Amino acid sequence: MIKVLFICLGNICRSPMAEAVFADLVAQAGLSDAIAVDSAGTARYHVGEPPCPGTQRIFKTHNLPYAGRARQISVADLHAFDYLIALDSSNKIDVQSMLAREGIEKPVYRLLDFAAGVDVPDVPDPYYVGNFEKVYDLVLAGCVGLLARIEKAHADLLQK
Ligand code: 4NP
Repeated sequence: MIKVLFICLGNICRSPMAEAVFADLVAQAGLSDAIAVDSAGTARYHVGEPPCPGTQRIFKTHNLPYAGRARQISVADLHAFDYLIALDSSNKIDVQSMLAREGIEKPVYRLLDFAAGVDVPDVPDPYYVGNFEKVYDLVLAGCVGLLARIEKAHADLLQK
């Protein structure tokens, strides 16, 4: 099983969106038994909450199922997940600091590192400014690229 964790600040807007979008792509590719997907926040402000209204609207518009609640990233996550995918550079730095504190050597990627034709590094935080459709477009581009990368890197494991 390949395990992918999306990480933002609150785990109520961007990373749940990435989790749902990526899980949907994985399901469409027939890979749900081989790739596990989850999300978490670096902060604990919103632990236990459902996704924010803007993200729930995106789920409705794009027909994406989602049942998760916000949780904070843990040290166990750093060990358990193969791909740590941050939604922005500040999330990436926070996760890198956690890894360093624990003495774990593992890369942290930004989701948009994988997005073809996107020239911004960070998925903007929609919590204050909205613009959820723009966030969705970026998240989708990143998730498409990430899945392609994983399929290529693990072709032996993912052969159907
Ligand atoms: P997220 O958005 O990191 O995409 O879930 C945010 C959610 C909450 C806060 C900031 C960003 N907050 O400051 O509470």
